[in-house]
Amino acid sequence: MGIHFGVDYYPEHWPRERWETDAKLMQEMGVQVVRMAEFSWFKMEPKKGEFHFEWLEEAIALLAEHGIQTVLGTPTAAPPAWIIEENPEIQPIDTQGRVRRFGGRHHDCQSNPAYREHIRRFVTAMTKRFADHPAVIGWQIDNELGNSHGDLCMCDSCKSRYQQWLEKKYGTIEELNEAWGTAFWSQGYNSFSQIGTPLITAVGENPSAMLDWKCFCSDLIVDFAKWQADIIRENCPNHFITHNYMCFDDKVNYYDLGELLDFVSNDIYPAGNWQKQPHQPDAEMAASHDVIRSYKKQPFWMMEQQSNIAGWGTMGRAVNPGQMSAWAMQSVAHGADAVVFFRWRTCAVGTEQFWHGILGHSGKPGRVFEEAKALTHRFAPHMDAFEGTMPRPEVAIVHSFRQNYAFQVQPNHPDLWYVGHIHKYYKAFFDKKIPVDFVQDTDDLSKYKLVVAPLQYLMTPELEQHYIDYVANGGHLILTMRTGVKDANNICMTDRELPGKLGDICGIKIPEYDCLFHKECAVLFGKKEYKTEKWADIITLTGAKTLAEYTTSFYKETPAIAENKYEQGKVWYVGTEPSDELMADFVEYVVDSCDIKRLGTAPEGVELMTRENDGQTWLFVINHTNEEKVYKLNDTYKLLEGEREEYLKPYEVQLFVKNKYGR
Ligand code: GAL
Ligand code: ZN
Repeated sequence: MGIHFGVDYYPEHWPRERWETDAKLMQEMGVQVVRMAEFSWFKMEPKKGEFHFEWLEEAIALLAEHGIQTVLGTPTAAPPAWIIEENPEIQPIDTQGRVRRFGGRHHDCQSNPAYREHIRRFVTAMTKRFADHPAVIGWQIDNELGNSHGDLCMCDSCKSRYQQWLEKKYGTIEELNEAWGTAFWSQGYNSFSQIGTPLITAVGENPSAMLDWKCFCSDLIVDFAKWQADIIRENCPNHFITHNYMCFDDKVNYYDLGELLDFVSNDIYPAGNWQKQPHQPDAEMAASHDVIRSYKKQPFWMMEQQSNIAGWGTMGRAVNPGQMSAWAMQSVAHGADAVVFFRWRTCAVGTEQFWHGILGHSGKPGRVFEEAKALTHRFAPHMDAFEGTMPRPEVAIVHSFRQNYAFQVQPNHPDLWYVGHIHKYYKAFFDKKIPVDFVQDTDDLSKYKLVVAPLQYLMTPELEQHYIDYVANGGHLILTMRTGVKDANNICMTDRELPGKLGDICGIKIPEYDCLFHKECAVLFGKKEYKTEKWADIITLTGAKTLAEYTTSFYKETPAIAENKYEQGKVWYVGTEPSDELMADFVEYVVDSCDIKRLGTAPEGVELMTRENDGQTWLFVINHTNEEKVYKLNDTYKLLEGEREEYLKPYEVQLFVKNKYGR
């Protein structure tokens, strides 16, 4: 497409006289695309059926004169007051039965038929109006689906949809009673009509019902998006459809949602006001980009890339000179074909007055504008070549929404967080400059030398077989604590000791375990003692050898990590949550034993990453710190951008290339 840099623009926040200045400055900055209109329903339809798209057409035309194209957002994350007045039942109901009212955003129930009709009317009008506009290239459906919809909505419309969803899944109420284990606490149902949305109970909840509820909510969001995608496809067959995801957010299964889209987009705020300060976000952000790339296994767009101070009522830290560029190029290094900065100009009104943009409140170009301009001019000449290229990692980490949901329902240990646990493994590879892909548990694993499958808690016979086949055919697999605990309905398995059938490839069984509640644990790995936390599987070897053993508690001197050869492959079973130090050394041992390539060596805060096609490999070296750093590459590359190989200034980004024949 040849579009690589842009901004999120809200012309409706500013007087008409200002727009020319904005367009000129954007052109000077190197902006090629804007996203607009995703929160301006009222301005486009101030009364039912009275459409006002002329202001938007004018903005689009003006930007087009400056060489800038437009992505339009459907404004369905904030229905106007007149819609709420006409259909108050659109407002969602929370777990306590309270109505979440108009005045912010996301005040919509996604199953509500009246709301769906408002959407049909509006999106039809909007897409018809812009279908043939030469400067409009694509659509963003809604905005950050799932954002603020946590635990919503409990209304009657959602209840009846949930009942239908359950009936379709289970067929008969007897099946559901069995699958949910309703013999416990007298929870049996006579009919689907008795089943409610999970409003607050006196105490406790049914874990199987809660897992279904989370999957239902995800399906509902996908269905809500499809409602719009169908209208857009019909009216605008030449435009792309995308959606702005939120990294590892989990309200909607992003793999499912991706099936509706031409490509995935992402929003990222590495120094948002909710992030821990001081925050070194490089590994976590890298993981976010990698998981985004996994959702459709293709390059993506950044639809909102942090450009400046981020926060609502309170604010995060100022962005250091160079840091925004380092973040932007980190996105590119992991697979972004385009980077759209949030937002063009800091807003003077509303909830997000302190969520800063490329321009400050004054609208005068300053330091951030100059940095963005330098960035686009420096890298735009290379961006066409990256388009469509992908990293080609030898290592994959399995990522699953269902496993995540199951741990949200029952975390096992109060601090066990599925995504956090995955991040721990990811960071060990990241620090060793080893690129990683995320994969779904149903994906073909055979192209990876090493697969890490943490917390495989919900297990099915198919998934067991999938892992067994991978290992039998020469794969290397890391499995962990809490594997094979439950069946697909979130009911504990009873036919074998943990970890179920996978015990055969692990060469172990686990008759007992210890939840390390208010307690630390230590293990001996090699000659060193390390801390571990949260969990200790008490392992009996049935063929494996011990790699690390506990040094504490009644199970001291028993295995904490086991290694087993199985047919052509090898499995490591990790029965505890390693500290960062143990993770680093254990992963070092594993990658050495499967001969995984590293891109080079560099201190923490310096990132190495590649994108490739069949002919060429581009290597990105990024300094995420405000200090000078040195590094070493393991291969010979030609420096394309940057000053001095093996040396980095604060926040410097360097770009290298290598073709098939070497430099
Ligand atoms: C994103 C959202 C934007 C804006 C931004 C700052 O999550 O998509 O619309 O709200 O955060 O809060
Ligand atoms: Zn509802």
